[in-house]
Amino acid sequence: MDLHEEKIVVLDFGSQTTQLIARRIREQKVYCEIYPFNTDLDKILAIKPRGIILSGGPCSVNDEDPPESDPALLDSGIPILGICYGAQLITKQMGGKVEKAGKREFGKAELTVADTDGIFAGFEPGRAEYQVWMSHGDRIEEMPAGFKVTGASDHSPAAAIRHREKPLIGVQFHPEVAHTLIGSDILRNFVFGVCGCDPSWTMQSFIDTTVAAIKKKVGNNKVICALSGGVDSSVTAALIHRAVGDHLTCIFVDNGLMRSGETANVLDFFRKKTGLKVICVDGKKLFLDRLAGVAAPEKKRKIIGYGFIEIFEQEAKKLGDVKFLGQGTLYPDVIESVSFRGMEVIKSHHNVGGLPEKMKLDLIEPLRDLFKDEVRQVGLELGLPEEAIFRQPFPGPGLGIRILGDVTNERLDILRQADVIVLEEMKKSGLYRKVWQSFAVLLPIQTVGVMGDERTYEHVIALRCVDSVDAMTADWSRIPYDILGSISSRIINEVRGVNRVVYDISSKPPSTIEWE
Ligand code: XMP
Repeated sequence: MDLHEEKIVVLDFGSQTTQLIARRIREQKVYCEIYPFNTDLDKILAIKPRGIILSGGPCSVNDEDPPESDPALLDSGIPILGICYGAQLITKQMGGKVEKAGKREFGKAELTVADTDGIFAGFEPGRAEYQVWMSHGDRIEEMPAGFKVTGASDHSPAAAIRHREKPLIGVQFHPEVAHTLIGSDILRNFVFGVCGCDPSWTMQSFIDTTVAAIKKKVGNNKVICALSGGVDSSVTAALIHRAVGDHLTCIFVDNGLMRSGETANVLDFFRKKTGLKVICVDGKKLFLDRLAGVAAPEKKRKIIGYGFIEIFEQEAKKLGDVKFLGQGTLYPDVIESVSFRGMEVIKSHHNVGGLPEKMKLDLIEPLRDLFKDEVRQVGLELGLPEEAIFRQPFPGPGLGIRILGDVTNERLDILRQADVIVLEEMKKSGLYRKVWQSFAVLLPIQTVGVMGDERTYEHVIALRCVDSVDAMTADWSRIPYDILGSISSRIINEVRGVNRVVYDISSKPPSTIEWE
């Protein structure tokens, strides 16, 4: 079943901003998907896109074996917008020439528009100079036959081009980035004016079609879903529940590594407010017994991941004849992007979604098409509380990887108390939603201090606050000193066993966000 009839397709040539293009199109309430640049023409045509965007990319069209989409695409009659590399590829495939520019153009540039049609509908031609963002070493030197220049900048005489009759458009700059102030206007003109789309992709329409599709797929069968309390699994469960009600059972594993009050909050909300069936399995002893004496981060991660799967499988078996498994997979996980070449495994991630294939259950992944902020919107529309929707990411292995060294009840207790203070102070200062994550880490060392007249020899808490957009890279947050001061003095005064707080000022890379 096709949930989204009107689509824009982005062909990815490896740009850092490919996902951003899709986000910008979706902000116009038009559904958009990303495919690798070399996707078969037949497959693309079968999708029946209203328009196609060729992304930028790190290569040159004059490289020995440059990434190319099928040139026949340009004859398909489907409107095509090439961005940077995409525009150069259109130029090359249509018989024009692309050369190394005398001067690389990087950063802000001023565009003079010479057109009032197509992507420049509503623009002021001639002397008006619009701010755009450039990032290229090559430029269009010789126009292909049938094309005209529609915009120019100082270093790119052909910064925007279009075919006189065919719906083929190219821009040398990046309309998807915020520094291109006219970017939204251009993309809006493209999807509505050039491609003729309707702004009909809304989260409510997504919920309606998704719920109907799940209902149809599940019929009278049983579905299980792992619930962690995180946004993705909560929204997945809520959507499936809306579709199939009591046919869904959620399993929540209390691994003893949760934050203070977390288990009770999650259960309370889902059971009382949504009527969802949730089985809570008390795995505290199992996890803590297995973790006893283990300090190696990877070993801890594996113990926690396997323990979770074991319990989940046992519970699923008890329920009997379950046919479907709900998972909170998001769109960035499924994009076959060409920009992620050979990423190495730095840490084995444990996600509630990573359940074993041998369970042989059919998957229901209602969030497969969504970006994180869209998932949040769906959650809000489904009535999930804001507090759950805007909570910071929390790793699957929980506090187990925020206690360096041995994980014991005593040390969990210390970290939980410090964690509550960090959260309270961050929320009080209004920074909680501004930073990507803010949390406490318990270090495996003790240091000397003085309290009253007495010497102390106690634990150290490290405070980690980072800014990020996707957790792939991150920088330490410049939290004002007085807020750091309040957090530090509260932890030292209120948490017995801690006499020192330090602030982590490392970025990712080369560090990571979590300490283990
Ligand atoms: P790192 O430490 O790799 O973390 O920079 C990147 C982001 O991922 C979160 N994280 C996890 N999330 N299961 C999860 O669901 C995990 O095993 C896991 N480990 C790290 C981390 O909190 C950060 O947001």
